[in-house]
Parts: sequence; C-alpha cells; structure tokens
Amino acid sequence: MKKLKCAAALAACWCLSPLQAHVTETTNVPDSVSLFSYATPGDEGRSGLKFAWSPDGNRWFTVGDGYAFVRSDYGAWGAEKRMVRPQLYQEPGGGAWHCVWQLNGSGKELAHAASPDLLSWKRQTYFTPQQRKDLPAASWRSGRPERVTLDGVQLEGSVMRVAWADVERLNRHAAYRAYIGQLHDERTEQDPQRFAGLKPVHVNLTVDGGKAKHISDKLIGVFFEDINYGADGGLYAELIQNRDFEYSAADRGEWNATTAWSLEGKGTELRIATDSPIHPNNPHYAVLDVKQPGASLSNGGYDGIVLRKGEKYDFSWRTRMLGGRPGKVNVSLCTPDGQVLAAKSFRLNGKDWKKLDAVFTPTADADAARLVITPAEAGTYAFDMVSLFPRNTFRGHKNGLRADLAQAIADLHPRFVRFPGGCVAHGNGIDNIYRWKNTIGPLEARKPMRNLWGYHQTMGLGYYEYFRFCEDMGAEPLPVLAAGVPCQNSACPEGHLLGGGQQGGIPMEEMDAYVQDILDLIDYANADPKQNKWAKMRAEAGHPAPFNLKYIGIGNEDLITDVFEERFTMIYEAIRKHHPEITVVGTVGPFWEGTDYEEGWDLATRLQVPIVDEHYYNTPGWFINNQDFYDRYDRSKSKVYLGEYAAHLPGRPNNIETALAEALYLTSVERNGDVVTMTSYAPLLAKEGHTQWNPDLIYFNNREVHPTVGYYVQQLYGQNAGDAYLPVSIRTDSRRSDVNRRIAVSVVKDSRSGDLIVKLVNLLPVEVRTDVNLQGIEQVKPTATKTVLTGTPTDRKARPVTTTFEPGGTSFPCTLPAYSFTVIRL
Ligand code: AHR
Repeated sequence: MKKLKCAAALAACWCLSPLQAHVTETTNVPDSVSLFSYATPGDEGRSGLKFAWSPDGNRWFTVGDGYAFVRSDYGAWGAEKRMVRPQLYQEPGGGAWHCVWQLNGSGKELAHAASPDLLSWKRQTYFTPQQRKDLPAASWRSGRPERVTLDGVQLEGSVMRVAWADVERLNRHAAYRAYIGQLHDERTEQDPQRFAGLKPVHVNLTVDGGKAKHISDKLIGVFFEDINYGADGGLYAELIQNRDFEYSAADRGEWNATTAWSLEGKGTELRIATDSPIHPNNPHYAVLDVKQPGASLSNGGYDGIVLRKGEKYDFSWRTRMLGGRPGKVNVSLCTPDGQVLAAKSFRLNGKDWKKLDAVFTPTADADAARLVITPAEAGTYAFDMVSLFPRNTFRGHKNGLRADLAQAIADLHPRFVRFPGGCVAHGNGIDNIYRWKNTIGPLEARKPMRNLWGYHQTMGLGYYEYFRFCEDMGAEPLPVLAAGVPCQNSACPEGHLLGGGQQGGIPMEEMDAYVQDILDLIDYANADPKQNKWAKMRAEAGHPAPFNLKYIGIGNEDLITDVFEERFTMIYEAIRKHHPEITVVGTVGPFWEGTDYEEGWDLATRLQVPIVDEHYYNTPGWFINNQDFYDRYDRSKSKVYLGEYAAHLPGRPNNIETALAEALYLTSVERNGDVVTMTSYAPLLAKEGHTQWNPDLIYFNNREVHPTVGYYVQQLYGQNAGDAYLPVSIRTDSRRSDVNRRIAVSVVKDSRSGDLIVKLVNLLPVEVRTDVNLQGIEQVKPTATKTVLTGTPTDRKARPVTTTFEPGGTSFPCTLPAYSFTVIRL
C-alpha cells in the first residue's frame, strides 16, 4: 500500500461530482487493483466500453458512473453499433491495450481497436470469421468471460490486475469529461441564476491597425445537400412530383411508380410499362388505357402547385401511342375545386417517343393547383418526363432553380458552394454512392436514385446545374465525392455484414475506374471541349467555357479505417499526379475530437493534404467555451475547412441563442483565418413539413422563404468579410471568465472596399458598453453603418436593423444590447 493524498479523480469516483472534488484528506490507496471492463447487455453494448475497479475482488466501484471509453462504430445508428462481450487485453510489459468485441449476438463478426492508455482509441477494424486470423496477435485470446455484480446486476467482461495509476488515470479522465460536459451544457436559460445581479459590463477595445495579418477571403460559403427536400421539391424548380414514374419502394417503403399521380373517373386504366423506355436509365413510363373517355390523371406536385396569374410556365412531356389511332389529350392546370387556369390540347400519335410542349399562362393565382391529363378519345396513351417549370427561374435558366430560394442563398454572398452532400455524397451503402456522371446530360438520360434521407433524387439538379449556380453567384464550386467508401452509418443488414455496407468499400478491382471517374469530373469542369469528351458534354449542355474548378472534396466525415485509407490515398495521389492545380479537401470525421478526428488528421499530415474538412454540431456552451479551438492549431499542417457546424439546443431551434453562439465562434474563426480557410453552416435548406434534420439555415414552403436568425448571422459575415485580420486587445471591468467569454470581437479589413469591419457579440443578459479605439488607423469616413441583430434568447424572428452613425474619429463608444450581434462598417 502507498500512502497518497486523495486526488480529485479519486474523490470523483467515490460519487463526489467533479466540481466538488477537492484534495481534502489523506487516505490509503492500493498499489494494484482489479479492473473489470464490460458493456451492458441491456443495450447490446451500444453505450460502449465501461470500467469498474475493485481493491479486493468483492467491492466494486464504477469508473465515471459508467462513462464509455470507446464505442463500436460499426453500422447504422440504432440498429447497429453494438459492442457485445468486449474482451480487453494488454500487451506484456505495459504495452498497448486491445479490445475485441462481437458486432452482434452471433459472435461471428468481430471488431478490434487498440489504445495506448485506454483513453484515446485508434481506428476500429472489423473481421468476418474467415478474417479472424488477421486480428493483431496480441489482442486475441479466447478465454471465459468473468462475472462481476455491479449495483445488483451481474455483468460479463474481462478482469485484470492493473496498477492503481491506471485506474486513477481513468477516473481523472471521466471526471474531466464530466466537468467539460457541464461547460458545454451552459445555456441562456441558466442565465438568470448564473448572472443574477450582473451590472452592464464596460469594455475597452484597442484595435492594432499596424499588425494586420492576411486571412482567407473565402471564409463564408454554403453547403448544399439534398436533405429536407432541398433539391427536388425545393431548390430545383420542377413543379411535377415523380415526373419520370421512377419512384419506388427503394426510395420509401410505401412508394411506387405511380406515387403522386391519381386517376379519377371510369373507363380508363393506369399501368406502368417498361418496354422500349425513352432511356434505359429511365425505365418506367405511364400508360393510360382509355376504353371510354372521361377519366383524368392528375399530379399535385410537391404539396400542391403554386401558380401566379399571368406568369409563364413551360410544360413538356414525352408521348407515344401504343397501338390504335392517334388520340387527343387535354392537359390543364386546375384549382382543387376544378377551376381551369390554363389548358392545352395535344394530339398524340406514332409509336416512337416524341417531345411535346406548351406554355401555360394561368388566369389566376393558385397555391395548390394540379396538373390534369384528360384523354378525350379512346386509345392507349404512353407518356413520361411530364414536366412543368416556371419560366421565372434564378437567372432565367431552363431546367433552373427556384428564383426566391436561390436568391436567398445568393444573398448570403457565399464564396463557395460545397455540394451535393453530406451523407448524400457518400451514400447509404456502395450502391448509393452519388455518381456525378449519372447526373449530367439530357434529363431522361440521368439516373435517378434513392435519397438516403428517405425520398427520391431525380438528378434534374445535377452537376451541370450545380456548377452553373456557383458561377451565377461568383462562388467557387467545391464538389465532394465519396472516398471509395459509403457513409459510416450505412446499414449492414444481417447476411451482408462486412460486405456491401459500411465496411466493404468499393472493391479494389473497381477502384481504378472510380478514380478515373473523379479525374473525368475535373475534365468535365475545366477541359477543352475540342479535346475531351466530358468537356464536350459540358459544351453541349450550354457551357463551352470552363467552370474553373479549383477544389475537390474527397470523403465526408468517414470512419477512418484501413479500407478508407487505402482508397482515399489512391484517389488523392491520382489527383495530385494528374491535376496538381486542384486543391484536395480531405476529411477528419464527424466530431471535433475522437478517433476519426485524430486518425484523419494523422493521415492528412502524412499525405500533406492541403485542406481537411471538419464537422461538428455542438451545444452553444461548446461554442462559447471553445473559442480558442483554432488558436492551438499547428500552422504548418493542413488548413481547415469547417464544412459542417451549427449550435444545437434541445428541441433543435434556430434562435437568437444558437445564432449568437455561432456569431461568437465565428469571431474566433476570423481571428484564425490564416488556418481556417472556409466555413459552411449545415444544413442549408429545409422544406417545412419535410425535415429530416433541424435546425437548418433557411426554411421554405412552396410560396415563401423563411430565413432563420442564424441565416442573418451568416449573411452579416458573408456581406462583411475581409481579407486581413487586425488584432484587438480587450479589457473588461469584469473578472469573471464566464462573463468575458460571452463577449467577442473581431476586426477585419476588406482590401477591395478599403472598409474596416468591427464585429461585436454580446451573449450576456446585460448591456456591454464598449469604447472602440482604432490605433494606427489615421482616419475613418465621417459616416459609418451599424447593423444590430438582437432579441431574447428564444427569439426565432429577430432581424438585423441597420442605421448610420458618425463615429467622429478613430475612437468612439458603442453599446451592445443584451444578447446581440453588432457589425460596424467604417
Ligand atoms: O448536415 C447533415 C448531415 O450531417 C450531413 O449529411 C452529414 O455529413 C452530417 O452527418
């Protein structure tokens, strides 16, 4: 036995909260103890690997109240990520720790991860029964599990003798995690207690105009993903749902090729045919067998079709007659009560597909119109690609984007657009990986696909349209392609374990072709149409000039495994070799810490990947308490693209509290604009009533666009960006760190306009009275603008208000209202 001062960690494990843990007493601690490692069978180990320790094998104490030190990352959330019967071993001589667990109850498929200290865990590897021989020798020792009773529950696991220092380290770590968990849980609803009696804070801000450092001029961009009906039914202006009759149960269980269409009346039968389709990629089409005219087939679009009186709508469809004489069909746009707002008669004839079109000009407004197809004569009518587009699209393009929604995105002034996902980019399983070649060319030749968010992608909004949208907004395109592996949360159904799902990856024998696809994309965007067949397709689509693609993202927050590394490296090296002019953006997992973050960064550092894409959706408390996150980054390593982030509160609102947490954090991003090159809030779009994810930046329905409070933060940053950062010293009259952490400032200069922009965030319930002093700046214009976004923390409707003021020189006062974001442009 050693005699030690009781450490904070030891106190914590004996049920004191970490914040109560003090060095208060002297106690005896053992040299070594028994360590029990286990997972709980009740949740099939989904809550991860836990520890308990015992001085004598009889009395057991849990570590960190059941804190999980590592979790299985295999398969889909909910259904999988099981850790059954984990077994823990240590290499002799105090070497690495190894944990092997079963992925399911069958015990056939195993997982392995190693750790130098039981705190940080290396990448996970998964094994079929045949691959079991490949398990690291040191890790696998089949033995009988031991049984330990904790809180009256008998559990199975491994028991081993370890030094007390090992347990102390585990306890200390769990206590630290509990402590930072409390910081991250800080919310404004606790402010009445936390800041009771707080008086307005006085702050002196001294800007050092002589020490400007260059920062990225691409800090604010957007990340577009087809989630929440962002594309079809959203940004893509097509008004007919299931225009191609390609919906299926693969998209959503209850769907089929006739979803969104309804037949009313008698004497007519609707069926779906597949012989001689308009294109093999679009195999289904509709057939109406009309014995007795009178019935109609109609489509109400996505929640009804919105029409505006006097505006033009382009209708088109592919038709043929399946036998018999030519037939007459009326097509009309009708209100729900049958009022006809526009109509046209077509004569269908011939056995070959023909494209027919018309322009409809509704005689009245309608919010929930339907397109109605009414054969006027008996016959067998076939049709496909039934389309209705408003003429008024963003920048008037054919096959274009919904004007108001696209404009709301453009108003953010994004410097780049990352597309087409997210999870959509790497897909749910290999077959669901987004293939850019399936999304270009004539619409009927594009290959529709199941959207992993539970609906259908027509691919009408494809790579050509994405590039064109970027160009229209003056934003750099940043396409993201799968790194040869599907989403880390792909389902791995029983029977296909370790196969087509998460861990398989594209088979290596198909990887050369996959890499070539990526190289072809660069040619599609940039090559000379006279010399390259992909560039020729771009020209044929209407854009002979290059799109000037500079960036390509490879991978999306993937699990960093051997399977990933092999494929990522192959793609990365090929781009580097054939297109050194392209900047590759790598990926470092879905969180701000943890195995994928660490392994991803190691790999990026080894390969010298220019930029890595970080993702983190965290609480406002996290953003408040991690403003130094990038201050610590090594400037000699990869640069950072913060590709997905948002402040999340319970209930997932987008309100003043979340928006100000993001604004506060973005001041630290501007300060670190030498290492962070780009950022994009996520997700961007959400159709009301069709969300799979909240919060989002812009909500919309068929008629209106509803930007959120967070949208205005992004817009204020996007419209007030700079390319040089000026250091600011902040002196406050408060000695409380929780107060001072809620006041943030950043000052940038925009070399194009010559303007100086001061951004000030106050996340306190009291005013902050600042004195701004611009040192080293000789003069400012007499009039400046001040834009303030403020409200109560739960306010979802606050809007920025801009006024002008006269600073009267290079020193001026500025009062920041409680809970506010202020942008001063001088
Ligand atoms: O932004 C929503 C999703 O979050 C993205 O598809 C994915 O990359 C992340 O998990």
